[in-house]
Amino acid sequence: MKIFQSTFKWFDDRLALSRLYDHTIGHQIPFSASSWWYVFGSATLACLAIQLITGTCLALVYVPSPEYAYASIEYLDYEQMFGWYLRALHFWGSNFMVALVTIHMIQVFLFGAYKYPRELTWVVGSGLFLCVILMAFTGQSMRFDQDGYWGLEIVMSILGRFPLIGEEATHLVQGGPIIGAATLSRFFTVHVFVVPAVIISLLVIHIRLILLMGISEYPEAGKKLDPETYKDEYEDLVKKTGIRLMPEGGGKDLVFTAMIFFAIVLCAALIGPKIPNGPADPTLIHTVPRPDFYFLSLFAVFALMPPYMESFAIVYLLPLSIVILFAVPFISRGRERHWSKRPGAVITVMLVMTSLVILAWEGITSPWSPHMNAWSGVPIQPEFVVGRSPLEHVGATVVQGKQCRNCHSIAGKGGKRGPDLSGVANRLNYNQLVRQVLQGDGNMPAFGRHLGPHEVTALVSFLHTLHPENEPPSADSAPEYAPPLATDPY
Ligand code: HEC
Repeated sequence: MKIFQSTFKWFDDRLALSRLYDHTIGHQIPFSASSWWYVFGSATLACLAIQLITGTCLALVYVPSPEYAYASIEYLDYEQMFGWYLRALHFWGSNFMVALVTIHMIQVFLFGAYKYPRELTWVVGSGLFLCVILMAFTGQSMRFDQDGYWGLEIVMSILGRFPLIGEEATHLVQGGPIIGAATLSRFFTVHVFVVPAVIISLLVIHIRLILLMGISEYPEAGKKLDPETYKDEYEDLVKKTGIRLMPEGGGKDLVFTAMIFFAIVLCAALIGPKIPNGPADPTLIHTVPRPDFYFLSLFAVFALMPPYMESFAIVYLLPLSIVILFAVPFISRGRERHWSKRPGAVITVMLVMTSLVILAWEGITSPWSPHMNAWSGVPIQPEFVVGRSPLEHVGATVVQGKQCRNCHSIAGKGGKRGPDLSGVANRLNYNQLVRQVLQGDGNMPAFGRHLGPHEVTALVSFLHTLHPENEPPSADSAPEYAPPLATDPY
């Protein structure tokens, strides 16, 4: 026993451990703050710990490249012993973390705990919330399956709607004109280095603020908060009824956190990881991607909204709602903290939560895919089809049906990620066109697997007619009659 005491004393002399304890987990909190309502923040923190540990282990195996990402996940699922379990823990950890951080914020909101002097704690906390959402999103993309891929597509088109910076920003985030290898490495970097670093930094500030301002006492209905006297009253309260956070006050936190741990371990074991639904394939549009649960409502909003409102919602409503979130303590400045005296706050929470749940339900059940075919509905302008042969007409139908318009415009109408196709026959000859379509190139996906030989022939015959009236197509191009696929090695 003595040896323990003297060892502790040796370290305490040098590290001031007991002072550290007094100022952190041993600090005094009001007795009323040791409540079952106050356990969600610490449980979120525990989830973060799980995510950091399981995430580091996953990163040992995961390969952030489009060719191997999906394969490395399948390797974990089917070959590496307990690899699936590691993925399951990380997946369920993230689900619980998003849910808990949301409940934590609702609790803080309803208890008026963001009011004087804790406004900054709320602001930093909102930053943490956004980071958690960003982690969830970038994490979903890591799977690089159909869901992850289309999630990226949707967010990129959201980003692309912003005026002036949209195109540049999309290019910067994607690391090129389309979602590909560079995009995945960027998202990986953001997911494992950038956001975790931001989370930890914000968390340090968040906890520092909590320690400085004290944990808010349980609100009392009818008791008005007076910034002039609040701090003195709080100090009195702590002096009179104060208990130490650990071990006295935090017992409920420990019990609840243990329950959450258990729930994560159990869900991971019984339900398992999210099974990736097929490798990302931009050429497959007959897929029904669904985002992870926390994005279902956003997904439904965009699926249900009339298209003419989308840009407005993206450019104004989305940023506005984020600004409002941060500004809560400066908007709601009433003196009352207890929820029973703040009907506005209760109604806000109820409205927001019911709309999120209803929308999420729509997101699960709705038959719509998101607007990934945003541009493919744009018909090919008549001047590009009049006077064409039947085969070329079939080709025009293929262009229409295979998503080409999502990335390519024709005479300015259509997606902008690839070159405009209206003069393509001047740039590429017949065989080059065939190769481009089958193999893709650089930033264009290969369509080889999703086009039958007859479709390729028709498609390329059509593309080959896309040149200005007065300029002939590329020299030495169309072999008069040679069906390209008979001689083509692909
Ligand atoms: C995911 C976006 C995307 C889709 C879908 C797509 N392309 Fe492309 N395409 C590109 C990009 C980007 C380029 C530029 C090539 C590069 O970066 O190497 C390109 C280049 C081309 C070119 C060469 C154009 C030139 O001027 O060099 C042709 C022809 C072409 N695409 C045809 C098609 C056809 C036909 C389809 C539908 C079957 C299609 N593309 C679908 C992105 C796409």
